[in-house]
Amino acid sequence: MEKIFIVGGTPLTGEIEIGGSKNDTLAIMAATLLVPGVTLLRNVPRNSDVLNLLEIFRHIGVHAQWRSDNCLAIDASTVKTTEAPLELVQKMRASFNILGALLTRFGTAAVAMPGGCDIGARPVNFHVRGLEQLGAVMTLEHGVYQGEVKRMTGTHIALDFPSAGATQHLMIAASLAKGRTVIENCAAEPEIVNLADFLNACGADITGAGTAFITINGVEKLNPCEFRVLPDRLQVGTYALAAAITGGDVMIRNAVYDHCRPVMMKLEEAGFLVLREGNNIRVKTTQPKINPVHIRTSPHPGFPTDMQQVFAALLTLADGVSTVTETVYESRFRYTTELQKLGAEINVEGRTAIITGVKRLSGANVSCTDLRGGAALIIAGLAADGLTQVDELRHLDRGYDEMVSKLTGLGAHIERGTDRISAGGLRVCSV
Ligand code: EPU
Repeated sequence: MEKIFIVGGTPLTGEIEIGGSKNDTLAIMAATLLVPGVTLLRNVPRNSDVLNLLEIFRHIGVHAQWRSDNCLAIDASTVKTTEAPLELVQKMRASFNILGALLTRFGTAAVAMPGGCDIGARPVNFHVRGLEQLGAVMTLEHGVYQGEVKRMTGTHIALDFPSAGATQHLMIAASLAKGRTVIENCAAEPEIVNLADFLNACGADITGAGTAFITINGVEKLNPCEFRVLPDRLQVGTYALAAAITGGDVMIRNAVYDHCRPVMMKLEEAGFLVLREGNNIRVKTTQPKINPVHIRTSPHPGFPTDMQQVFAALLTLADGVSTVTETVYESRFRYTTELQKLGAEINVEGRTAIITGVKRLSGANVSCTDLRGGAALIIAGLAADGLTQVDELRHLDRGYDEMVSKLTGLGAHIERGTDRISAGGLRVCSV
């Protein structure tokens, strides 16, 4: 089994280029199923979730081809089945969005209940109810949702919670519906706005994305286009936190500050200098101590749930007591047990983690519990004394491509391998 080996303690310096967003890519890929012809997506990251969705596409007859490192051509004119392979769908959450796409275009589809990170119950009731409101007849048999519809019909859908996935799924499903659909209390993340921009570039008629109400006037047909995936705001946050915890000074290139604002504002509150320079964000350490801060996650534009873990890693070294309150998922604190192995003092009470800053972390063997929890362990390892070994990397690989080489480029002593490595000039041997 591969592990990441880190010898912590080196301040990160230099420049890092951010790639395309996983979550934006996955939503847009699902939407390409609406479009007969070749859609060209640029800035596509090659993480395992994207590769898994491509595998699902191949099974259902979609032709997809890498034209260059990050340019993906998808041709959905050749769909041969609308039944998605169960074992692949169960590996990830975003695969569920292909249900609405296949259903609205072909009138029938079967997709299993999705998998994804184990961070809460994560039901799909908003998705299914929304599809039913659009006119689909949905049944669940042996863990697989089967849908049938003549043509989706515009309707008014009010979500109980601004779910990112349900908003994306229903936008996709309503794009070819007869008439107007309004989604109320919808999510407003940058990926929602970009999905609307993608669909509109294909000929859809969607307004209001980025607000709590999205209006979709159904069209008869969509046409292929060329489109660029957003820079990954969660990677920006992750590398910003890596710079901060090591007392470093890093320029993050290709970052949209407005998408990262809640994280950057909390970093400033923690005592770091955050400079916005065009499409770049520089995170600079200017004081020896980290101020404790209080974080409460909430849907965009609030503090993103996906960033609470990496921020918590920083707060383990703060000068005082910080709190992280998670309001989006019921159980997104499993990583705190692993951080404790590095010497962190964290008590989880209900939905709040109380973090008492310690003077130092010390390297240990830890396991990724989920995608962002894994990133938190890497960040903590970068600051910990001695050797940290991180395993269960399949979680990390879902959303961070080239993480080790990116961090190495900033001066980190970090390697990935199975047994022996040379880290920080030391010969070390894993157990
Ligand atoms: N929810 C329901 N019913 C539903 C849908 C959602 O109760 O039908 C609940 C969820 O259980 C959760 C809350 O609503 O408590 C929010 O879930 P949401 O639907 O917004 O999340 P998602 O679409 O499944 C996406 C990202 C997640 C990110 C969330 C919130 C993708 C592939 N995933 O998930 O990303 O945490 O939005 O912003 O886009 C990650 O990248 O690490 C990650 C987990």
